[in-house]
Amino acid sequence: MRTIKAGLSGLILFVLVPCAFSGDKEPEHRSILARDGLHDPSNRTLTLLQDPARGLKDLPSDRRGAVDWAAALRKGVIAPRTGITGKEPMKRLDSVIIMTNTRNMPHVTFPHETHSQWLECSNCHSSIFLPVAKGNAINMNAILRGQFCGVCHGKVAFSPMVCERCHDKTHPGSPKAWW
Ligand code: HEC
Ligand code: HEC
Ligand code: HEC
Repeated sequence: MRTIKAGLSGLILFVLVPCAFSGDKEPEHRSILARDGLHDPSNRTLTLLQDPARGLKDLPSDRRGAVDWAAALRKGVIAPRTGITGKEPMKRLDSVIIMTNTRNMPHVTFPHETHSQWLECSNCHSSIFLPVAKGNAINMNAILRGQFCGVCHGKVAFSPMVCERCHDKTHPGSPKAWW
């Protein structure tokens, strides 16, 4: 019996494997991933991965067409687990900090609510920010160089180029909302 089973699965493998790797089904999909600069274009198993454009198409997007993950979470389109099992407690904090040292740009809103749904307090306190309102000398140059908000924004969170997502509170000295 054993020999027959082994023989059969060998046959199935022989028949299936060339189909799976042939790449004939979705040649375009493979070429999208092969051109993204992240995947190895010579890896024939790229056809097994979901096309990102298809996977992300139903998620809300921002002005530049990138996925707006915070909106996706708010609208309930996604429901990330709190941890490996999903039963881990999550410490949510709803305090909002308005940062006014923005010259003639609209003021910046920093929402703890959004951040504490993705991150632990210790991700930011105190290696990136002292937990003291106006206790950190943040400026735009440093953010663009990857410090403060720029530790994540532009890497794992939306880009610092989408100014209005942070600078969203107009004031008498700033232009009116342009977004
Ligand atoms: C991820 C959030 C974020 C984004 C996106 C962002 N900023 Fe800022 N920006 C800040 C913060 C925080 C400060 C400091 C505010 C404070 O300390 O009161 C700041 C400060 C500034 C200042 C004040 C002067 C200075 O150099 O610090 C200017 C001008 C400015 N930003 C322009 C921009 C422009 C233009 C864009 C888009 C290209 C942009 N910002 C995008 C968060 C952001
Ligand atoms: C994404 C980064 C980030 C995370 C995560 C984060 N914070 Fe903060 N927190 C900040 C920033 C930025 C400020 C404002 C600092 C400033 O104004 O210079 C701040 C300020 C504070 C302050 C002082 C101002 C106030 O609201 O009283 C406290 C307290 C604080 N955080 C507690 C927490 C706790 C508790 C958690 C976890 C539930 C947390 N933070 C998660 C970035 C973060
Ligand atoms: C430790 C990582 C981290 C740091 C540091 C950080 N953020 Fe974020 N931020 C995130 C993540 C993750 C999200 C959710 C994903 C996204 O929107 O791209 C987010 C989302 C946001 C949002 C969208 C809120 C919403 O509900 O639409 C704003 C505004 C924002 N951040 C501002 C800031 C500002 C201003 C700073 C600096 C004072 C900052 N963030 C620092 C990780 C960070």
